[in-house]
Amino acid sequence: MAAGRMNHAMRRVTLTQFLIRRQHTGKINADLRLLIETVARACKAISTRVTKGALADGHGAAGMENVQGEAVQKLDMLSNEILLEANEWGGNLAALASEEMEMPHPIPTQFPKGEYLLLFDPLDGSSNIDVNISVGTIFSVLRCPKMADGSLCEPEESAFLQPGRAQVAAGFAVYGPTTVFALTVGDGAHGFTLDRETFTFVLTHPDIRIPADTAEFAINVSNQRRWEPPVKRYIDECLAGKDGPRGKDFNMRWVASMVADVFRVLSRGGIFMYPRDAKNTNGRLRLMYEANPMGFIVEQAGGAATDGRTRILDLQPTGLHQRVAVILGSKNEVELVTKYHR
Ligand code: F6P
Repeated sequence: MAAGRMNHAMRRVTLTQFLIRRQHTGKINADLRLLIETVARACKAISTRVTKGALADGHGAAGMENVQGEAVQKLDMLSNEILLEANEWGGNLAALASEEMEMPHPIPTQFPKGEYLLLFDPLDGSSNIDVNISVGTIFSVLRCPKMADGSLCEPEESAFLQPGRAQVAAGFAVYGPTTVFALTVGDGAHGFTLDRETFTFVLTHPDIRIPADTAEFAINVSNQRRWEPPVKRYIDECLAGKDGPRGKDFNMRWVASMVADVFRVLSRGGIFMYPRDAKNTNGRLRLMYEANPMGFIVEQAGGAATDGRTRILDLQPTGLHQRVAVILGSKNEVELVTKYHR
């Protein structure tokens, strides 16, 4: 009986256990552990809401536009609220920022403040909600810079504008056939699956490694006529298959939810691209709460992430909602596309 219980305990590592181990080894402190657990709890709540689909009043547009000029969906707003309410009272954050809010959200005065900054895209791929395709939540954690007198910074936009390499944690949830939670605290990339019976995240994808080579690309080909020559060249060569310069056939996938596309890349390799083009001259994805966290986790899994020229994590941000070109995934393919840009 005792041995049986031990085996069971050894088999299943929950997110909480995983984080506590890292706290004990000094990789993260108690505040960061609580922060990640709180984000994960909010993701479970969003997952439950997404799963209700058309049975709850969550489908359709909210009747407003976000700071990017995109139609906000009802579930975008609800997910944003869930993340704000879960995180603002814990005492570990100095401020929060979200795709759905033009300016940073300060911690309400009745709550204590802490040393971290949390950024998130509450519901990535939200154009897929009403058609039952995977969506997700992306988050990034930074340290709040200290003022000259040692006190914590004011929660202004400038405090958030740190390069991606300064992230202390990042991850994302995918609300798909299963709800998964991918995480890095800077010691590898790890994936958890939501056990709906115990409502806990269980470590199912430890130490994820992205193969350096791949024969699968993800890009929205409807933008092809607007691409820059290096991207056009790379995709043309992939499409030429065995008869072309690459000497092998490539497959294509495009979910149009970055979370699902990146989870596939983490799971079996591949290259994901949303390059700049004649319409999206700075790219389409957001640096602070899409490209940076995904770049961090992909690098931690042995992959690479660039904007075609520069490593994503080395870009100096100039705005909370700035867009960026993204090329990420299997290292050798990302390096090839980046070489074509040079
Ligand atoms: O963040 C926006 C997003 O929905 C990503 O999740 C996704 O990769 C991309 O936009 C899809 O863009 P498009 O609609 O051009 O395919």
